[in-house]
Amino acid sequence: MPGKLLVFEGVEGCGKSTQLQILHAALLKHDSLQQLQRRSLISQVLATREPGGTELGLGLRQLLLGDRGGASMASRAELLLYAADRAQHVEEVIKPALAEGCWVLCDRFIDSTVAYQGYGRGLDLGLIDQLNQVATGGLVPDLTLWLRLDAEVGLARTRQRGAADRMEQANLAFHQRVQGGFEALAQQHPDRVVAIDAVGSVEAVAAEIFAVVEGYLQQWYAPSLTA
Ligand code: TMP
Repeated sequence: MPGKLLVFEGVEGCGKSTQLQILHAALLKHDSLQQLQRRSLISQVLATREPGGTELGLGLRQLLLGDRGGASMASRAELLLYAADRAQHVEEVIKPALAEGCWVLCDRFIDSTVAYQGYGRGLDLGLIDQLNQVATGGLVPDLTLWLRLDAEVGLARTRQRGAADRMEQANLAFHQRVQGGFEALAQQHPDRVVAIDAVGSVEAVAAEIFAVVEGYLQQWYAPSLTA
């Protein structure tokens, strides 16, 4: 009973963490999903995130986003810390959950490294693919919900939330390159990356996400749902 990996991606302030929580709550009371759980075709629905989905990852998240990392953190050190977080997360949380038949909702995954460290920092994309491969053992999301929002609008939203973390402090040009990275990824992987217009209200975006996920659920489990 292998599960499914659903990932939320996007620039700062795109609303993915809020939307992940809303989808999580909606799935827990979703008829079709409950039906599949009763038939033991899906186990639990689990919410997790990167960086910081494990004990080790929480420490790495502090280093990556807190003040101790400092503006002087080398891009390759940053890349390796994100990869270390992912390796631990996949080993300890994601793979066992998928093996058990869970749906795993993950706030950021491999595409964030391509967008931020590849397009944003300018590190070699081939190297990043190799590191992602090492960290995940080749695991790719079944579905990536990319919340598409202008980088400037997103950054303005995060500034309203209060103090910016180390990544948010990077300049607008960096975040625009990151956004370009997500655009490129969506073009390269139309099989798994779905763009969601993140400009509208929280409710409107949540409805669009739910409709997309519902479509995939029907597609993945069609024989069992109609039986
Ligand atoms: P968030 O959890 O609030 O989205 O913060 C995570 C930050 O880390 C965000 O700025 C994106 C960044 N990040 C990378 O730069 N590379 C990565 O591989 C991941 C997972 C996150």
